[in-house]
Amino acid sequence: MLLRSRGVVAGLAAAAAFVTGVVGCGQHQDSCYGPTNKVEHVRHVKRMQPGAPGAAYGPKGPLEWGQVNFLHTTDTHGWLEGHLKEQNYGADWGDFVSFSRRMKHTARSMGVDLLLVDTGDLHDGNGVSDATTPDGTKSMPIFSEIDYDLLTIGNHELYVTEVAYQMFNEYARKWGDRYVTSNVKVLNQTTGQYEYVGATHRYFTTAKGLRIMAFGVLFDFTGNSNASQVLKAKDMVKESWFADALASKQPVDMFVLFGHNPVRQTDRASTFQTVVDAIRRAHAKTPVQIFGGHSHIRDFSVYDDASVAIESGRYCETLGWVSVSGFDASNSGFRGVVPNPRGVRNPSRPARPGSRSPFVYSRRYLDWNRKTFIYHSRVGGGEGEFDYHSGERVTGDIGKVRDELRLGDVYGCAPQDWCISCAPFTDKKKNIFPGVIFPAVSAVVLNKTRADRSRMILGNTGAIRFDLHKGPFTYDDNFIVAPFRDVFLYIPDVPFDKASKVIDQLNKGPVSKRRDLVSMPVPEDECTNPTLGYMSRRDIREERGVVRRQEAVVPGYVTKDDWGTDGDDTEHSEIPNYTIPPYWEARASFPKDGSNPDKVDLIFFDFIKTKVLNDLGAGYTDDMVQCYVNCSFSSQDFMLPYAKLAWQENKDNCPVV
Ligand SMILES: *[C@@H]1O[C@H](CO)[C@@H](O)[C@H](O)[C@H]1NC(C)=O
Ligand SMILES: *[C@@H]1O[C@H](CO)[C@@H](O)[C@H](O)[C@H]1NC(C)=O
Ligand SMILES: *[C@@H]1O[C@H](CO)[C@@H](O)[C@H](O)[C@H]1NC(C)=O
Ligand SMILES: *[C@@H]1O[C@H](CO)[C@@H](O)[C@H](O)[C@H]1NC(C)=O
Ligand SMILES: *[C@@H]1O[C@H](CO)[C@@H](O)[C@H](O)[C@H]1NC(C)=O
Ligand SMILES: [Zn+2]
Ligand SMILES: [Zn+2]
Repeated sequence: MLLRSRGVVAGLAAAAAFVTGVVGCGQHQDSCYGPTNKVEHVRHVKRMQPGAPGAAYGPKGPLEWGQVNFLHTTDTHGWLEGHLKEQNYGADWGDFVSFSRRMKHTARSMGVDLLLVDTGDLHDGNGVSDATTPDGTKSMPIFSEIDYDLLTIGNHELYVTEVAYQMFNEYARKWGDRYVTSNVKVLNQTTGQYEYVGATHRYFTTAKGLRIMAFGVLFDFTGNSNASQVLKAKDMVKESWFADALASKQPVDMFVLFGHNPVRQTDRASTFQTVVDAIRRAHAKTPVQIFGGHSHIRDFSVYDDASVAIESGRYCETLGWVSVSGFDASNSGFRGVVPNPRGVRNPSRPARPGSRSPFVYSRRYLDWNRKTFIYHSRVGGGEGEFDYHSGERVTGDIGKVRDELRLGDVYGCAPQDWCISCAPFTDKKKNIFPGVIFPAVSAVVLNKTRADRSRMILGNTGAIRFDLHKGPFTYDDNFIVAPFRDVFLYIPDVPFDKASKVIDQLNKGPVSKRRDLVSMPVPEDECTNPTLGYMSRRDIREERGVVRRQEAVVPGYVTKDDWGTDGDDTEHSEIPNYTIPPYWEARASFPKDGSNPDKVDLIFFDFIKTKVLNDLGAGYTDDMVQCYVNCSFSSQDFMLPYAKLAWQENKDNCPVV
């Protein structure tokens, strides 16, 4: 979307706060909400998870197929069931199994290559991955149903020791040298040595003869458990295996540099430039295709005449597409069709104007729904011809896992949407922090023996991972909104004067310095919902060319990248994006007369303990910190009780919007 990460993103779990999907309109929501509902709502729910809404309309045009093509996923965070309450992203992993197989088939019949790439963060964000111990026990086998060519590790595979071991001992083995982790090692408990999780690099030849050297590079992550080690990129490029790979006599037609790593060079977390520079010192002109992730945005960034980078969003909302042409016998081992596959559109843009490289590119961000998948797989018979048995089986497996884990159990009926950043942080009617999180922790995070004490509760906003959508609030939604297990700790009887200063100090820290808190104008009138304001009408040409329907554009991704604004495969109206502070504070049991208490119980996530102690300053030490409710009561434990408390109305008759 238009605003890209500059300030708030802290790295670690605080990294991801942005909005998606549908925007409510405060208390007048229903009256403001006309246009999306007006769209004729044909339900294509045969294969995706039962009840998930279908997309209202589809892509704006066919893909540009080149000599080598890529489909890219990143930051799926367990969303294998798809988005059950959002029509733009309703496809499930089984639909993706069918789609990716169809696309590979299409590539073969065109005489070109198609490679599937994933750049990590497979945990933390959805019940399918997080409702098991350890995380991922049920989701990883489902994820692995895709025939990926290249995969790499994300930071969310490294916080929890058991998860790191699971990746090392099971999944890295399963994928063999397609799992590439150039700068990440995990402890081998047998030898006591830290060893590369996957391969350091992969050299392979594609079906059409393209010789590829691939590196998988995680950003310089430091929040990992002691089960792993992350080499900084600047050190990795000095490793002897890396120098050897670049000096190898084996010919390389294309480098693939992929990693859990933002593609935008100005993003402080990104380390891709360091690796590109190292490659360029040895190979000045060989194309370098880059695939990134972690900052959870759609983005496309040009590195040089022969190097472009795509980042493909998050949470199974986006599937990235890149195609490249320009190979022939003089510059590669490519044996496929030259210069381009026929009967389809082809990539035509140089990386940048005036490029001296023979390579041309296309990029597209696909919405994750069946309409998109069916459209681009070009099956003549549409819906009926699209599914493979393998895809249907995976859809069934997801349904079984959801049943087994009881993810569909309903705890309440959320009366409206609340979002993380589509409305100002202070907007009680629309923003999830004042609207839901503060009342929820105030009511639920309580130690009865201290119920009479005033208390202040502190947390990082990054712990809240997703908007809360109107409709049934399920066990699954608990993981979707608050997937982390951050234990509530506290220090008893902190003078109010001291405690009340901590939130500002937290927010003034290095994390938030660089940006004002509010970045977009506040619409004056509640009902001038900006998403509706931007809404335009468009003609949609049906495939057979006769029917012309006018439909409203629904809110969703509106991406601006190095190539402009034509990257989104499906047109949407923009959702506003307000910057939110990195930390929040809630208060409870304060004096009824509005005065301040002398002392408070200061409650906070274990995740931010060090920072809180620092900000309290002299006299506050680790040994004063205790578990508040008990040592297992965490950020995963307050939303369900709150739903039971606050949202019982219509619980048994709660419509999915
Ligand atoms: C919204 O703004 C925040 C803060 O600037 C940024 O981190 C985030 O990536 C933005 N979201 C989108 C979708 O651009
Ligand atoms: C750990 O080391 C042992 C002994 O060398 C080896 O057999 C085993 O394969 C290693 N584990 C992994 C996951 O590589
Ligand atoms: C990691 O830290 C834990 C807890 O402090 C400790 O018990 C364990 O031995 C450490 N493991 C390694 C490999 O350093
Ligand atoms: C509440 O706090 C007291 C005193 O710190 C502690 O003994 C108790 O275990 C805590 N938990 C509950 C549920 O009361
Ligand atoms: C911690 O407290 C919660 C809420 O009171 C309770 O459900 C849970 O059983 C307690 N856990 C332990 C280990 O005492
Ligand atoms: Zn992520
Ligand atoms: Zn990440």
